[in-house]
Amino acid sequence: MLDIFKKAQENKYAIGAFNVSNLEQTKAIVQAAQKLKSPVIIATSEGESKFIGKKQIKGLVEAWQEETDLPIFLHLDHGKSFEVVKEAIEAGYDSVHFDGSGLSFEENIEITKKVVDFAKKNGIKNVEGELGYLRGESTIQEKVEVKQEDMTNPEQAEQFIKETGIDSLAVAIGNIHGVFKSSENPHLYLDKLQEIQDKIGDRVFLVLHGSSGTPEEDIKKAIEIGIDKVNVNTELRIAYTEALKKALQENSQQIRPYKIMPSVVEAVQKVVEEKINLFGSDNKV
Ligand code: G3H
Ligand code: ZN
Repeated sequence: MLDIFKKAQENKYAIGAFNVSNLEQTKAIVQAAQKLKSPVIIATSEGESKFIGKKQIKGLVEAWQEETDLPIFLHLDHGKSFEVVKEAIEAGYDSVHFDGSGLSFEENIEITKKVVDFAKKNGIKNVEGELGYLRGESTIQEKVEVKQEDMTNPEQAEQFIKETGIDSLAVAIGNIHGVFKSSENPHLYLDKLQEIQDKIGDRVFLVLHGSSGTPEEDIKKAIEIGIDKVNVNTELRIAYTEALKKALQENSQQIRPYKIMPSVVEAVQKVVEEKINLFGSDNKV
């Protein structure tokens, strides 16, 4: 997995991490990766993992890893406690994110370090830490204000990386989770990202959360500056639910799930393909 990130870092493209909680979303991501010959990360948050089951999603992803021979990775997204991360590692996840951004700087260092130690002992290649505070949720919501104090502090980032031993760092640079109901999502503070990048160089891989609704130009520039992994959730959820509502409305007599779901898979796949092209990870396997 780190080789895939290294290649992305050196060649200035990013790997998409796409959230799922069921088979159809996973199938859509795998089909997009196959079509565009792209590495992909399949991610589950705490809530998503709870719904589908950690061992269950592991089994599903493993079946596609074997069948496609593509670099497909299973990643825990926003694990908020050591226990949840441990469960994911024990279920066989390839990669984990411990999100201690709600804790004090000192506590965040302490638990992230504990996660790194446990993960490394168990053969996990990529541990993602988080510094700075990301507002919003992966849904359609009222406007949320990004505050200056939310942003990742470059000096603290350097110390955080040194003391925890993480492989990847999720940064707060004006990004938010989810999309706004009645206005555009905010622009990214690209100068802040540049400052972070200048400070930490290529010591860790940089992760951009909350990419749904973010202006495409900003995402492209962020990747040029040094973002190596981009997380997408809300736009996939919107594609999924809109396509499902449409399929049910247009075929109200249809009760066979395997006849209802193909258009939903197709809609999600389309968004994933657009993101892969935007991030530049197509034709990289
Ligand atoms: O961790 C997941 C992502 O940060 C998703 O953000 O819902 O705004 O795409 P998003
Ligand atoms: Zn996130």
